[in-house]
Amino acid sequence: MYILAPSLLAADFNILGQQILETQKEGAEYLHIDVMDGIFVPSISFGMPLIKSIRETSKQFFDVHLMIVEPERYIEEFVKCGADGITFHLEATQCADKVIEEIHGFGAKVGISIKPETPVEAVYPYLDRAEMILIMSVDPGFGGQPFLPEAYERIRQLRNHIDEKGLPVKIEVDGGIGKKNVRQVIDAGADICVAGSAVFKKRSISDNVSQFMAAFKEKEEKNRCDNGKDRQK
Ligand code: DX5
Ligand code: ZN
Repeated sequence: MYILAPSLLAADFNILGQQILETQKEGAEYLHIDVMDGIFVPSISFGMPLIKSIRETSKQFFDVHLMIVEPERYIEEFVKCGADGITFHLEATQCADKVIEEIHGFGAKVGISIKPETPVEAVYPYLDRAEMILIMSVDPGFGGQPFLPEAYERIRQLRNHIDEKGLPVKIEVDGGIGKKNVRQVIDAGADICVAGSAVFKKRSISDNVSQFMAAFKEKEEKNRCDNGKDRQK
């Protein structure tokens, strides 16, 4: 099952609740919430009060992507205001083990993210303790950037490694995903696709989300068919 995680960063904040509900209605199971501190990344986005407030609107899985230094300072607060999963950057902390323990300790799912220049191998030591690995396909900090094609090889490398080890950890990919490349992203091995501009900035949100859903369905059918053929061999 593939999952769409619309990124709130691209939403219209005047009508935020309405837009979130539209993504939920069309089948987006996750809501991707980018928290930026102006230090780890150049930009500043939003924080706890906003998450707390939209928690009343949405039943989606709140996928909080922390682009902040020393994420260990805020884990409890983010869980308390409604995060279901917390993804932190390996580059942003000296104590990844502690952050993982804290996130799990407060009952949330652990995601670990790496920037495009960080080798994929950097996440290997944590794969048995994380529920998700987030591969950035743009430099973190802003929405609306083009997908970096070298991300495909990074996704494939991680997919192969995870499958060889037989681990249940999911792969999420974030940045520059739209209807033109979503199939390539899931073909490379992604389970969860984050999309900001492609969901909120073009045409209608319902149409945009349904196009992602259709691409996922097509791929799921192909997977079922391929599995059937494998069984026959
Ligand atoms: C970038 C963020 C992304 C971003 C994706 O730092 O982590 O989640 O909002 O936006 P698009 O889909 O527009 O590239
Ligand atoms: Zn993000």
